[in-house]
Amino acid sequence: MSTERLPEHVPEHLVRDFNMYAPPGIEKDFHEAWVRLLQEDDSCPLVWTQQNEGHWLPTRSSIIEEILTDYSRFSSRSIILPKSHSADHGLLPTTIDPPEHHFYRKTLNHSMAPAAINAMGEDIRAIVTSLIDGFADRGECNFTQDFADILPIRVFLSMMDLPEKDIPQTKYWTDQLIRPDGTITFAEALQNLKDYIAPYVDQRMGADGTDMLSRMINTETNGRRLTREEAIKLSIQVFIAGVDTVVNLLGFVFLFLARNKPHRQQIITGQISVSDAVEEILRRFPLVTVAREVTEDMEFHGVQLKAGDMVAAPTPLAGMDNTFTPNAVAVEFGRKQGNSLTFGRGAHTCPGKNLARVELRIAIEEWLRRIPDFDVNEDAEVSFSSGIVGVVNQLNLRW
Ligand code: HEM
Repeated sequence: MSTERLPEHVPEHLVRDFNMYAPPGIEKDFHEAWVRLLQEDDSCPLVWTQQNEGHWLPTRSSIIEEILTDYSRFSSRSIILPKSHSADHGLLPTTIDPPEHHFYRKTLNHSMAPAAINAMGEDIRAIVTSLIDGFADRGECNFTQDFADILPIRVFLSMMDLPEKDIPQTKYWTDQLIRPDGTITFAEALQNLKDYIAPYVDQRMGADGTDMLSRMINTETNGRRLTREEAIKLSIQVFIAGVDTVVNLLGFVFLFLARNKPHRQQIITGQISVSDAVEEILRRFPLVTVAREVTEDMEFHGVQLKAGDMVAAPTPLAGMDNTFTPNAVAVEFGRKQGNSLTFGRGAHTCPGKNLARVELRIAIEEWLRRIPDFDVNEDAEVSFSSGIVGVVNQLNLRW
């Protein structure tokens, strides 16, 4: 427990010792580690932790949704915990509130519209099949390294028309922004990514390329285009947001499928469509925890909040909340789906959700076609980490 003094407006009965980067039980299961907070605390809508410079944690899906939607009282100007780390971030459009946010989102939405994503389906399928064919005969693979780590970044570089040889270097910098290992600072990693993307932005500005980067830079919205600096910040944000999330979601999905033959059978026999399976998996395994900064003193669900307080928006909790759907912890293919918080809500709702769904659907389709029966290779222990994005550290599969 932190020794920092408890802020005067925080009553002691709402204090919990919860570090979102290392919740108790994280080694065994990421989502169950988060849900312990819910079980301990059925009656409090919000609790406070002294960890990570002190912040609020909502305990219900409906309250997380309110926080994500109400940008006038819960601003995106600080979205990283601890709050002092938010100052280094400054990327677009995540740290901008409406109405300024609309300009960047229109540009982004245009370049990631469903038609543009659907047109990539066959390219994505080619990447998926070539990866699986590379190890299918082996009878085992390091799923993380051989598949999950590679697919989203190859898709991303292909979308942006950037060279595939840059995968290891760009992945290293992105990892350092999300899960730094201390080899370089956050600021250095960000600068390296900016220096990497800048020449491509210069090359494509004003040209008539059809890749996503060119479309982003050259789309006119509300009578103006992105500046060079804006284009760099926006493309790096897409890079960060679009790679790590899919890498880790693939880990959770294939871990679940490896451990649950009956669910695999439902898909293989056509009893359930892959798209429906993907929706239930997305509902059950959300993995992103961003935060918001309180803009004014207020009473919120009976709790006193002060301007400047930070509030986490833990979507992993939302996926396990029985007030959102009954027996939320169970994966029940075919259950009636509500609008889950996996891709966020409100102005900042994930613009990459169509792409993520397509990547996930094609990965499951092609995997089960080639490797219908597989399980976890228990020689290597499965472990998890928590953070802005939940992580399956290493997953080894065999068949
Ligand atoms: C399973 C995969 C994914 C999950 C679970 C996910 C989740 C999220 C969530 C929860 C947010 C909201 C953050 C907030 O409210 O501050 C978000 C925003 C964002 N996501 Fe995703 N995402 C995924 C994949 C992608 C992909 C594939 C891309 C792009 C290639 C992408 C690009 C973005 C961007 C640019 C934002 C910021 C949007 C804004 O601030 O307006 N995401 N994502």
